[in-house]
Amino acid sequence: MSPQPKLRILFTRDEIETTVRKLAAEIRKDYQGRRPILIGILKGSFMFMADLIRLLDFPLEVEFIRLSSYGGGRESSGEIKVVQGLRSEVRGRDVLVIEDIVDTGLTTVFLLDYLRKKKPASLKLCALTDKPSRRQVPVTIDYLGFTLPNKFVVGYGLDWDENFRNLPDICILEE
Ligand code: IMP
Ligand code: MG
Repeated sequence: MSPQPKLRILFTRDEIETTVRKLAAEIRKDYQGRRPILIGILKGSFMFMADLIRLLDFPLEVEFIRLSSYGGGRESSGEIKVVQGLRSEVRGRDVLVIEDIVDTGLTTVFLLDYLRKKKPASLKLCALTDKPSRRQVPVTIDYLGFTLPNKFVVGYGLDWDENFRNLPDICILEE
């Protein structure tokens, strides 16, 4: 057994709540009366999605897409595939992608390209967290929660090898 990893709180549940409220306010302003499809990337975005949509007071649809990009550890394999696709028609719809984290950007860019080919009326990105120091491809984030240092984080949906998704705070996984 490897030693128990050490966790240090980076953003508390209260800070997360405040940030999700701020994002919801921005999104409410832009999407009023448009009935967008919010597409969450599994698994990491499920908690953020659940909190965010409860603060949105206009008609919307929720979809999830599952991509494979990461192996068990902390590094992207760089090869991305759609493992579980969409059930809704995206053509002509306002689409808002909901991400837990933009790291290298490879996953996000893959998904945005994949969706763009389906000809949505509009396509925007909302990311709870961003690790710009790790970026390999440019990504425009329309609605951003937190900027992260170059550390591996877990909690609030984010995992390390499927562990720690249930933590209510966002924590740094110490080396
Ligand atoms: P990217 O393709 O490198 O941007 O990675 C995107 C995916 O990698 C995210 O959706 C996460 O699942 C995972 N990931 C990247 N950095 C972290 C982190 O610090 N903690 C947990 N998961 C991460
Ligand atoms: Mg993961």
